Amino acid sequence: MPLIFATNNKHKLQEVRAALPAGIEVLSLEQTGLAGEIPETADTLEGNALQKAMWVYSRTGLSCFADDTGLEVDALGGAPGVYSARYAGEHCSFDDNIDKLLHALDGQTNRRAQFRTVICLLENDGSSNPVKPRYFEGCVKGTILTERHSNGEGFGYDPVFMPDRFAVSFAEMPLSVKNTISHRGLAVKKLAEYLDR
Ligand code: IMP
Repeated sequence: MPLIFATNNKHKLQEVRAALPAGIEVLSLEQTGLAGEIPETADTLEGNALQKAMWVYSRTGLSCFADDTGLEVDALGGAPGVYSARYAGEHCSFDDNIDKLLHALDGQTNRRAQFRTVICLLENDGSSNPVKPRYFEGCVKGTILTERHSNGEGFGYDPVFMPDRFAVSFAEMPLSVKNTISHRGLAVKKLAEYLDR
């Protein structure tokens, strides 16, 4: 049976397909014929991942999963968190978000932060039991730099996030290295281990 990933993001699809057991066919929303914007109106990563997975499950009845990621900054009480994509406003750019973050941390000595990804899996096990969500979490801790450091790799907040035990930002790392230590990579690895059980 195929497994639907509630995304059309090619990079995420590639990463997930490479990590999951070979026998599992992962379909994108497009490949499933699902169109339209999936609502993301919850106020937690878990809530959004569940909301997106339920959107797919209620339309297809097929096993599916969705992910949601946030950057949680200690000195900002966990912000921008679930609002990371639109931290600087509804149609803001990655650069706008970084500018707002650097401004919010101006003069701040505590620059600790973490990226956290939550994956919600809904499995149709063939029974009439209500579907039970399973969650897989990946987290990478690090520091928010005082300015951008980038080789042009990555996206989002990568130019200002330096993971612990590294002397470079996510945007200065080859994607293959980032994927082995990243929040999303770790969450996908846990999903893969569960599906391979
Ligand atoms: P999403 O839930 O994967 O769409 O992520 C929400 C937002 O978090 C993105 O729009 C980015 O701003 C940020 N983000 C997620 N993953 C990463 C990453 O690996 N590096 C930098 N920023 C990220």
